[in-house]
Formats: sequence, structure tokens, C-alpha cells
Amino acid sequence: MPVYSISHIENVRVCVVMVGLPARGKSLIAQKIVRYLSWLSINSKCFNVGAYRRALVSAKGVDATFFDPRNKVGLEYRESAADAAIEDMMKWFVEENGVVGILDATNSRVERRERILHICRANYIEPMFLESWSDDQALILQNIFDVKTTSPDYVDKDESFATHDFLQRIEYYKETYQTMDKARDVDLTFVKLINVNSQIIINRIESYLESRIVYYVMNLHIKPRCIWLSRHGESQYNLTGRIGGDANLSERGWRYAKKLPELVLNSLGEENKHTNLTIWTSTLARTQQTASFLPYKKKLQWKALDELDAGECDGMTYEEIEAKFPEDFKARDDNKYEYRYRGGESYRDIVIRLEPIIMELERQENILIITHQAVLRCIYAYFMNVPQEESPWMSIPLHTLIKLDPRAYSTIVSQMKADIPAVSTYKERGTSQLGESSISSYASKSRDLINNSLSLAKK
Ligand code: ATP
Ligand code: F6P
Repeated sequence: MPVYSISHIENVRVCVVMVGLPARGKSLIAQKIVRYLSWLSINSKCFNVGAYRRALVSAKGVDATFFDPRNKVGLEYRESAADAAIEDMMKWFVEENGVVGILDATNSRVERRERILHICRANYIEPMFLESWSDDQALILQNIFDVKTTSPDYVDKDESFATHDFLQRIEYYKETYQTMDKARDVDLTFVKLINVNSQIIINRIESYLESRIVYYVMNLHIKPRCIWLSRHGESQYNLTGRIGGDANLSERGWRYAKKLPELVLNSLGEENKHTNLTIWTSTLARTQQTASFLPYKKKLQWKALDELDAGECDGMTYEEIEAKFPEDFKARDDNKYEYRYRGGESYRDIVIRLEPIIMELERQENILIITHQAVLRCIYAYFMNVPQEESPWMSIPLHTLIKLDPRAYSTIVSQMKADIPAVSTYKERGTSQLGESSISSYASKSRDLINNSLSLAKK
């Protein structure tokens, strides 16, 4: 049976038009929306007008005066760059079945926004304006320091020049900037985020897809925080190669549970050692036992963090599954993301039940999640943008603590391995044996994915 996503049900296509002065977090918000929707299998893409502008005019020759509204040549280039991005987006909607396109530019004047509105309406695409408005000078300066001084516009320029030039660029934009206005724009679909999410104005949200996007951006915050991920310690079922169940930890699994507080403390570093963490586990015994020695008061159990339900195969080994259900065994290897166990779940099903977890994770600060192999792969895939076909094949070993440290345009990953042996629960494609061979391309690719400090480069 085909699996439908929200967009198929509604048959809606949305163009999210970012609005706001430079350094208001528009690109970051746009990229996060794309990552979130792609994780939910909604075909989404961001079109960054800055990149089109740099393709038209070498960034080397561009300083703040390029953005002076009296600079006619600059204005022409900027409008041509925006037109090229809009044209590519419209092509993408048609040729690649796009569902949510994001036009990432300042789109700071009504005239430009009206042009986009007409193009969208002529192509039966719902326009949704998403403005980020801020007058928090300290935050804006911090944003410039964090991401603008290293932008391709300032290669070979020193930090002080870049900061002053960028501030001047903002001043030029302010001369013509027209914020979304409740009276003038009353008929438009728009969201206005004021000083991140201190205040949010929402106007005429019509489709379910639009409401998902609004709900997601409402939950975003920019406070620094980390997320720790760990599988439970080795379990009795792991020792015998059985999947599912609700087994207790093995003797080595208990040793990992006792070691975990020290691994967490080491990952915090001396200066942050009193940081308070909230612990999330599944409802299964092995994750709660793994959390039992952690000295943090707030521990929550989530049913949504329970391991993939293997249905009729629960409690079996992969060898037993291959012998009893050979066709299912092959079907799963052929398409592990979509394969749904008889009476159980697929990876796609896990992603759907994890959505509230992701939403809550976006709202929260420091969280340590102790969960299971398949669930952890799906959470990791969200944060690190791992493609669907690869995520179910990622190798995430037992007795390893992963720390995700999200930065503006990158997430720094570190891995702390406890020196406590554990069996491998990794099954490669095409075999029912456990353990990774050195020739598996999926396994080695995923090993690369998780062993290196991955960074999501700014597109
Ligand atoms: P430009 O128009 O120059 O491309 P931009 O508005 O796209 O600028 P970003 O490059 O996305 O700005 O800025 C990233 C910075 O903005 C990050 O440091 C991030 O912490 C911060 N940020 C994220 N969300 C917001 C927000 N809602 N308001 C203000 N700053 C934000
Ligand atoms: O100034 C920031 C910026 O992202 C530029 O890099 C880009 O050329 C511009 O905004 C896009 O917005 P607009 O099309 O309104 O000029």
C-alpha cells in the first residue's frame, strides 16, 4: 500500500517567502524548515537569492554601496538575481514535483512581494510570507559576528571591515524596508516572528501544511544547548541476537549504565559540569535501567521512543526470520526504510511517531535521550540531514555516547566510547549474520557519517 504524506492528501504546494532585514536568521530558519520537511518526506528546497547574486556579480566587487537603494546597477542585479531564483523555483515545482519551495532573500519591499504573489497565484502555488523581525541590537551584532564575517561576501576581508560593512548594508536596506503589516497585508498568509519568538503574529493560515510549518517555527529557539544520544546498554536479547522484546540489561550492559554518568560529565567539561540535563527514555526496561545511575532529577519516559515494533518477528533472530519469512527478509533488505514488519512498523512509521519528539526537542535545552537502535537512527537522521535510504543502515554501536552541539550552520558531533565490550547488533544487507564486514559500502559509509565530526555546510 502506498504511503501518503500530508502534501499528497492536500495536494497543496507552498512557496514560503522569507522577509526581513539582513542578519535576522532567515537563512537558518529556511534551512531548518527544509531539513524538517525532508525528514517527513515532503519534497522541499531552499532558493537563496544571495547565491544567485554572487553568481551574477563576483562577491569580490560587492561592498555595502552595492545595496544602496540609489545604486541603480546594484538594484538591477539584485532584482535579476531574485527573478532567476523565482524562475528556478517555479521550474522545480513542475519538473521535480516540488511541494514546499522557500525563497530566501530579504524580500523587504512590497513591490517585490507583490510580484512573487502574482507568479505564485498564476502557478496555483500558495504563497506564505515568513518574516523575521528584530530590534535586538546585541543579537544582531552577535549574528553578524557568528555568520556574516565569514560569509563568501567577505573572503580576504578582515573581521572589523566585514562587521562595519555589513552594518552599513543593513542601514541601506532599512531605507526601503516595509515590514508585514496587519492592515495592508490582511488578505495574505503570513507569520511574523518578533525577536525570535517573543511575539508571533499569524495571519490567514489555511492549509494543514502551512500550519505544520508555523507550528515548527514557533517552537524554534536559538539558546545554545546540546543533545546527547545513547542506545541502552547491551541487553540479554542482544547477547542472543534477538530483536524487540523487553529484556533486562546484560552484566556488561549494567556496567555501561554505571559508566554513563562519567561519560556525560567528561563530555560537559569542567566549566559546565553542573549543567542540568533532562533524561528521556523509552518505556522499555533496558533504557530505564541504563538511565538509573544518572544523577539528574528530571527523567521522562516516552512511548514514542520505544524500539521499532517487529510485529510477528518480535523476539526472533535474523536467521529465524530469514528461514520463516524469506520473502519478507529480502523485501526488508531491498527497501529497509519502507518495509513494514507483519503486524509491526517500518522506519517511516517511526519517523511519523517521532514528530512530537522532534518538536519538543526543538523547544527544549539540554536533553539526554536513551533509546534504541532504529529510533536513534531516525533522530540522528533529523539532526544530521541523513538521506532516507541511508539512515536505516547507519552503524550506531552499543556503549557509545553521542553529543550533538548545534551551531548556526553546522552541528558538531562527538562520540565517547565506553571501554566496555558489547556485541554488534548490526546486520548488513544480504546476510542474516550480525557484525560489520569491512567491505559493506553502507556500513562503511555510515561509519564515516558518524565517526567524523559532521558539519552541515551553509549552502
Ligand atoms: P541575510 O539576509 O544576510 O542572508 P539572514 O537573515 O538570512 O541574513 P542568517 O544568515 O540566517 O541571517 O543568520 C544566522 C544567525 O541568526 C544565527 O546566528 C542564528 O542564531 C540567528 N537567528 C536564528 N533565528 C533568528 C531569529 N528568529 N531572529 C534573529 N536571529 C536569529
Ligand atoms: O543582504 C543579505 C542578502 O542575503 C544578500 O546576500 C542577497 O543578495 C540579498 O540578501 C537577497 O535579498 P534581496 O533580493 O532583497 O536583495
